Amino acid sequence: MLKVLVLYYSRHGSTKSLAMNIAKGIEKEGLEAVIRTVPPIPEYLSTQAAVPQEGAPYVTHNDLTECAALALGSPTRFGNMAAPLKHFIDSTSQGWLKGALIDKPGCVFTSSSSQHGGQETTLLTMMIPLIHHGMILCGLPYSEPALHDTTSGGSPYGATHVAGHSPSVLTKDELTLAQAQGSRLARLTKQLNSR
Ligand SMILES: Cc1cc2nc3c(=O)[nH]c(=O)nc-3n(C[C@H](O)[C@H](O)[C@H](O)COP(=O)(O)O)c2cc1C
Repeated sequence: MLKVLVLYYSRHGSTKSLAMNIAKGIEKEGLEAVIRTVPPIPEYLSTQAAVPQEGAPYVTHNDLTECAALALGSPTRFGNMAAPLKHFIDSTSQGWLKGALIDKPGCVFTSSSSQHGGQETTLLTMMIPLIHHGMILCGLPYSEPALHDTTSGGSPYGATHVAGHSPSVLTKDELTLAQAQGSRLARLTKQLNSR
């Protein structure tokens, strides 16, 4: 079965909620969602084994080689992705040299506390390393009715959540769009692997 890697960093649970719904959308299309996270920076810098106490396992470089597609999620931090995720991406040179992600579809997602606090800049800048890796990017088309209706998160660049004071509770439209993004990524993955 084709595997889709859902790789996210989340400190307070919002980006994780998006990740879980993207995974649901992937599984609706019959593909396996491999859910992985990255440790916060201090753990990376320590000598301890990188094993999370709970939740998703930490990503390995093999996960990138083995996946057929990638959904990458981060909280918005000053209009950009969070350092722990960037730290992992900056460790992927070997995979880049081997072309581990070339011609694989990818998408991005984010959560921010405020509506105009930099979600789009975060999503667009998260796409740049994926382009360097040779990935084929997919967003969300306006044929998704929730993209027209949403008064919170959700954008053509990718699924989002406006966390405000209720961090991990997605609105109906945000949830619908996150699942739609997962399903679209999975459908494209199947099409690209059908020959
Ligand atoms: C260092 C830092 C920078 C942040 N920068 C922004 C920002 O630029 N815009 C914004 O709306 N929220 C910002 N936030 C808030 C987070 O994006 C928001 O709480 C997000 O939902 C956290 O996601 P998580 O629950 O997955 O950790 C920032 C938070 C931190 C800790």
